[in-house]
Amino acid sequence: MIPESFIQELLHRIDIVDLIDAYVPLRKAGANYAACCPFHNEKTPSFTVSPTKQFYHCFGCGAHGTAIGFLMEYSGQGFVEAVKELAARAGMQVPEDDARPHDGPRVQALTEIMARAAKYYYEQLKRSEKAIAYLKRRGVSGEIAQKFGIGYAPEGWQNLASAFEDYSVAGLQQAGLVLRSDQGRLYDRFRDRVMFPIMNPKGEIIAFGGRVLGEGEPKYLNSPETPLFEKGREVFGLPQARQSLREKNTAIVVEGYMDVVALAQHGIGNAVATLGTATTATHVQKLLRQVDRLVFCFDGDAAGRKAGWRALENSLEALPEQKTIGFVFLPEADDPDSFVRAHGAAAFDRLVAQAMPLSEFLLKELAAHCDMTSAEGRARLVAEAKPLLGRLQTPLLRLQLVKRLAEASGFSQVEVERLCDLKPVARPAPARASRPAPSLLRPLLRLLLQKPELVRRVPVEALPANSEEARAIARLCSTVLECGDPIPAYAALLERLRGSEDEAVLGEAAAELMQQPFAEEDIDAEFSGAIDRLLEAERKRAFAVLQEKVAKLGVAGLSSEEKAHYLQALGGRV
Ligand code: UTP
Ligand code: MN
Repeated sequence: MIPESFIQELLHRIDIVDLIDAYVPLRKAGANYAACCPFHNEKTPSFTVSPTKQFYHCFGCGAHGTAIGFLMEYSGQGFVEAVKELAARAGMQVPEDDARPHDGPRVQALTEIMARAAKYYYEQLKRSEKAIAYLKRRGVSGEIAQKFGIGYAPEGWQNLASAFEDYSVAGLQQAGLVLRSDQGRLYDRFRDRVMFPIMNPKGEIIAFGGRVLGEGEPKYLNSPETPLFEKGREVFGLPQARQSLREKNTAIVVEGYMDVVALAQHGIGNAVATLGTATTATHVQKLLRQVDRLVFCFDGDAAGRKAGWRALENSLEALPEQKTIGFVFLPEADDPDSFVRAHGAAAFDRLVAQAMPLSEFLLKELAAHCDMTSAEGRARLVAEAKPLLGRLQTPLLRLQLVKRLAEASGFSQVEVERLCDLKPVARPAPARASRPAPSLLRPLLRLLLQKPELVRRVPVEALPANSEEARAIARLCSTVLECGDPIPAYAALLERLRGSEDEAVLGEAAAELMQQPFAEEDIDAEFSGAIDRLLEAERKRAFAVLQEKVAKLGVAGLSSEEKAHYLQALGGRV
């Protein structure tokens, strides 16, 4: 466990506005900052960041949280990872703790090993004439080689021994850099290969791809999956592409390392490569968080078309409304690398601009298997489209496809929908629609969030049972009291309540507060009023209980204490 005090200190030092602004450019909007939400698609900004609360909230999709929460959500990191990254930014050392999950230090050690190996390979490239000649022959400049951190693993079996004090350390094997032979000898995985480092979105090296200099098998040798590297999640070239992705709002997805490098060499910086694996829904999701348009660019052969189809299938469920996907198929025998070298950047840009829309590719491919001249063939087209349509989450694109299917098959739109068993697409419920109307306690909850020292004055025993707000208030009170002095700031409190049942209600109240905070001078009066209402409600409830008892048992059924209360309450009423 990371100590609570450390989280508080961390949230104190980090400014959520700076943090988020680095990912999503913010502009000032009154007391807060606003942007289009990075977590859902929108045209007008409803994503709001409060500098005073150190909290963000999207009024469109309901996403909210602190700096830690933002980083987790945005980068897909876990809590501990996110805390570490923020700590590094703030120049703070996360306290080591034995009870911490031991994955943390191991991953960190492996990352350091990878960085060191990459540096070594990079240095070796400068000393290898033949590797330099190879890259030159392929048109890679020194500048681009440096941008991608391209290196060279020399010939020989234990070169890494000169880069690490202890060649037999387990980390080298866990990182996939060193292997153990059947005879128990340790040796380098990568030998006499040009090395392409694969980085995670943070720019840390998590794997390598190594290419033989000439002919040879395998052409590319890749790192195995390790605790750092999961193939279906990562793409090559992401950190290098980031700025260009933002500028062009489009990501070009290619198959090969050299495709990315060659495109960058020609000034096309927004390409990334899936690493010899099919494009997964995770890839698509990750990329569509950063851009609105994905263009797959595959080789012009049968394998390329097949890879395109796989990409299409895996994109369907990950495709949000208003994001588009296109497909470029290069001339036979070309890949993006050879194409851009032969025809130049402008010609490549044109291909990307004219990419085939997903719907067209889908129909074309399906129609290619069906005899569109016969009624049976056209029915088959619709039957084959059925499972694909079912995977789409977006009503607009589905409708578009249904229309095109109808045109191509000769069925009516309604018939296509019926044949494909299409039910209305389930839309995510608006953030708050499913909850009952906020109770009278909501203002009290907001008051306590804004001014936590008020918890000392809350009559906790008067809180009703069976109310979400009441439970959240009770939790807030006990948390603040546990913390003692100094009372933690707002964001730190919310972090402390992360994972509790009350997180959702607290987050909503925090968001409401962000939109409409109480004026400092009104807080005390508001608070007294809220407490009066709470006590009054409790009195009514208690009286109702007594009245029910009297109705059943008569006044004689009450204890003497109850009787006193009952009479007093009645007296107050008449
Ligand atoms: P290609 O065979 O199309 O090679 O593999 P390429 O990218 O054009 O390579 P160059 O231009 O000859 O250098 C496409 C991608 O598939 C993966 C690599 O990621 C490669 O870039 N691959 C291919 C492997 O992982 N291993 C292999 O042996 C071959
Ligand atoms: Mn190639």
